[in-house]
Amino acid sequence: MRDAAAKLARGALVAFPTETVYGIGADATNAMAVARIYDVKGRPADHPLIVHIADFKYLEQWISDIPEYAIALAREFWPGPMTLILKRSDLAQDFITGGQVTVGIRIPNNSLALGLLEAFHKLGGAGIAAPSANRFGQVSPTTAEAVQEELGSYLSDRDLVLDGGPSVVGVESTIIDCTGELPRILRPGAITIEMIVEVTDLKVSNSLDKKSDDFKQEGIRVSGSLENHYAPKARVYLDQQPVAGSGLIALDSVKTPDGVIRLTAPKSVEEFARVLYAALREGDHQSLDAIYIAQPTGDGLAIAIRDRLSRSAKGR
Ligand code: TXA
Ligand code: MG
Repeated sequence: MRDAAAKLARGALVAFPTETVYGIGADATNAMAVARIYDVKGRPADHPLIVHIADFKYLEQWISDIPEYAIALAREFWPGPMTLILKRSDLAQDFITGGQVTVGIRIPNNSLALGLLEAFHKLGGAGIAAPSANRFGQVSPTTAEAVQEELGSYLSDRDLVLDGGPSVVGVESTIIDCTGELPRILRPGAITIEMIVEVTDLKVSNSLDKKSDDFKQEGIRVSGSLENHYAPKARVYLDQQPVAGSGLIALDSVKTPDGVIRLTAPKSVEEFARVLYAALREGDHQSLDAIYIAQPTGDGLAIAIRDRLSRSAKGR
């Protein structure tokens, strides 16, 4: 892990596993290194990045203010699939925040990620900026192979891709705006609204129905909230009868019609989240024109799954 951390310290990129999806990381204080993330992803330069840290004690330097409820959330759910948006300090520069006055911070719950972060902090690093390790607008990678497939041809010999096996959660972290009096969910994930209410005892607002335009009017940029995102090459159809020759992603209880190619049959909503992105990739590997998805119903993680799928279905 020391070698990987040393690469980051020298300004190279290191892709690493987290419990949600794989990230492509750079020293969050190195403008040149962070600029390469944007190049490699093909992402517009004004989109903010999440800063990953190993421990709560590294939080203070990145922020200028934190409400009580955010401290409670951090204590309860970190390390874990949750990103807190907080008022930034001067350390969080415009090339991280997209010029906003806030910064997104997360402590991931994955031993490789935490090992890398600890080693990087030991070398004096303040944090690792890491978006999901996919080309802009495409499906997030949940394995090291998927990272290679997405970014391999854009990385150089100095960069590194760490392999920690498949991500266990499978959808990106819950993003919670903690700059107001009440917490507000900007992107749903495995930390659900019920869990946030339980810990904070506050009314939690939800921006799930917001389109990127609504966010834009407020002056915040959440690229994961763009309408076209998380999209495979195949056209995605939600909750429609699949036609022969197309792919199907659905819970195990849903039968596969004749001539339809079953891509996965998860037994629970948790498994659905875990295998979803790999199944979308598999559809593309099989060069399918269309993938039909029977969405899981209900609350909790199903909300995050439907959020991503509604964007996948808008296409590229
Ligand atoms: O699970 C995850 O969060 C993964 C892993 C690698 O940690 N990362 C991830 O990063 O999904 P990315 O860049 O693909 O998505 C982060 C989202 C983007 O939509 C970005 O706009 C938003 O977080 N974001 C980051 N900083 C923000 C800020 N200060 N204010 C509002 N949104 C922010
Ligand atoms: Mg992403």
